[in-house]
Amino acid sequence: MAIQDSRKVKGLRSIFGKRKKVVDTTTTYADRDDLPLNDAILSGEEIGDKELQRSAKDHLWLHFTRHAPYQSMDMTIIERAEGNYLYDTKGRKVFDGLSGLFAVNAGHARQELADAAAKQIMQLDYMPLWSYAHPKAIELAERLLSYAPAHLNRIFFTTGGGEAVETAWKIAKQYFKLTGKPTKTKVISRMTAYHGTSHGALSITGIAAMKSMFEPLVPSTFRVPNTNWYRAPGNFASEEEFGIWAANRVEEAILFEGPDTVAAFFVEPIQNSGGCFTAHPTYFKRVREICDKYDVILVADETITGYGRTGEMFASIRYGFEPDMMVTAKGITSAAQPLGALFLREKYFEPFKKDQVIFPHGYTFAAHPVACAVALANLDIFDEERLVENVRVNSPIFRQTLEKLKDLPIVGDVRGDGYFFAIELVQDKATKLTLTKEQSEKILRGFLNNALYDAGLYCRADDRGDPVIQLAPPLTIGPKEFNELEQILRKVLIEAWDRL
Ligand SMILES: Cc1ncc(COP(=O)(O)O)c(C=O)c1O
Repeated sequence: MAIQDSRKVKGLRSIFGKRKKVVDTTTTYADRDDLPLNDAILSGEEIGDKELQRSAKDHLWLHFTRHAPYQSMDMTIIERAEGNYLYDTKGRKVFDGLSGLFAVNAGHARQELADAAAKQIMQLDYMPLWSYAHPKAIELAERLLSYAPAHLNRIFFTTGGGEAVETAWKIAKQYFKLTGKPTKTKVISRMTAYHGTSHGALSITGIAAMKSMFEPLVPSTFRVPNTNWYRAPGNFASEEEFGIWAANRVEEAILFEGPDTVAAFFVEPIQNSGGCFTAHPTYFKRVREICDKYDVILVADETITGYGRTGEMFASIRYGFEPDMMVTAKGITSAAQPLGALFLREKYFEPFKKDQVIFPHGYTFAAHPVACAVALANLDIFDEERLVENVRVNSPIFRQTLEKLKDLPIVGDVRGDGYFFAIELVQDKATKLTLTKEQSEKILRGFLNNALYDAGLYCRADDRGDPVIQLAPPLTIGPKEFNELEQILRKVLIEAWDRL
C-alpha cells in the first residue's frame, strides 16, 4: 500500500445552504489498490445522494440492520435535523417521532448546545477522569444529583447506557467482594428487556434472539417476568395485583438461586422492549422491599426514562421508589454528545474509599469535558423551557390522542407514560391474537417502517416482543404535533390492515 504525495482535498459539502465548501488543507492518504474507494467522496467533488448511497453500500456497516435489502434499494441518509424534523438526502422532511433513538429530548440543532461545545473545546478540549478531575465533570455531577431520587450521592460517568449497565454490575460484584459477601455475583433482570450490547450488558438483556449467536455470554444472569399488563397471565383483578405477583417472582428467583449469590436486580421503570411496559407503583414498592430483605442492589435502568421522558426528571421519582443505582444516558445531553451517568448510593462507594482499593474500570471518553458542558447547557434548557413540566401537563393529551387509534381493527393496545408510548398491533382485538411471524415480517419490516417514513414520520416498528410501533418524540412538542402524529399513524395503519 503506497502513500501518495500530499494532495489537496477539496470539498465537504456544507449542509447549511452552499453546496460546496473548500477545505483548505493538504493531506495524505493511503492509495488502496486492494479496494475501490469512492474518489468522488474523497475529493469532495460532488457529494450527492447517489455518491453517498454507493459509498455507504460499499463501506458502512449499519447497526442492528439487515443489509440484504440495500443490495437492490437505497438506504435513507439523514443529512440535517432541526427542531422536530429530520431532512434526508432525497429532499424529504419527516417528523422525528423517536427523538433519534429516545434521546434528542430538547429537540434538534439547539444553538445553546453548539455554543457550549465550542466554548468548552477552547477552554479544556479533553481530559480523562483517570486520576484527575475537571470542573465540568464536577459541576455536572453536582447538578445531576440535584434532580436525583433520594440517597443517590455519587456519579460514575460513562459514554452511554450499556457501559453504565456494565459498570453497575462490576461495581456490585466488587462491592460485595470488599464487604465480605464474595459469592453475591448474580443478576436478575426481566424478560424481553434490553440493557445493551457489551458481553455483560447483553447477558443482562432478556432477548434470547439477540444473544444466541454470542453465547457463551457472561454466566449468572436470570430472568423474571416483566410487567406486560396487556398480556398478563392469569386472572388478576387489577394492575396492582398483577404488579405484586410480578414483583414476587423476583423474590422467588432470589430464593431459588440463593440470596447469598444474588448481587443485583435490573429493571427499567418503563420497559422499552416489548413496547412500553409500565408497572403499578406497588410493583416498585414491593421490589424495593424484596431487594432490602435480601441485600440485593436495585438498579433502575433509566437510559430511556431519564431526563424528563415520563414527566419527572427520572421515572423512579414518578413511580415513587428509591433505586440503589440508576443508569442514565441518551437525554442527558439531548444526544448532542455521547454521555452516560451511573448514579449510586454512597454505601456502594464506601469500601472504595479505603486503603489501596481502586475500581479498575473506566473509559477514555467518559465525562468528556465537551459532553459535560453540553449536558449542563442541556439541563439549562430543561429548566428554562420547563420541559419536564411540559411533558407532565401534555402527556394525558398525548395519550388521549393516540388512544383514538384504538378504533382501528389492527390496534390492540396503546400504552406508556409521559412522552413514551407504544401501539401494539394485533390480528384480532377481541382475542388479542398477535400477528403471525409471517404477518409481522410482511407488515412491520415489509411495510410499516417505510410507509410511516414516506408519510412523514420517523418512528419504530418493532417485534422484539409482540409487534409494536414506538413513539418517543422530543419533549418540546404539544397537542398540535400529537394530532399530526395521529393523522399519519391512522392513514398508514389503515393501509397496514388492508395488507394483513
Ligand atoms: C434501557 C436501556 N439500557 C441500555 C441501553 C444501551 O444504551 P447504549 O446504546 O447507550 O449503550 C439502552 C439503549 O437503548 C436502553 O434502552
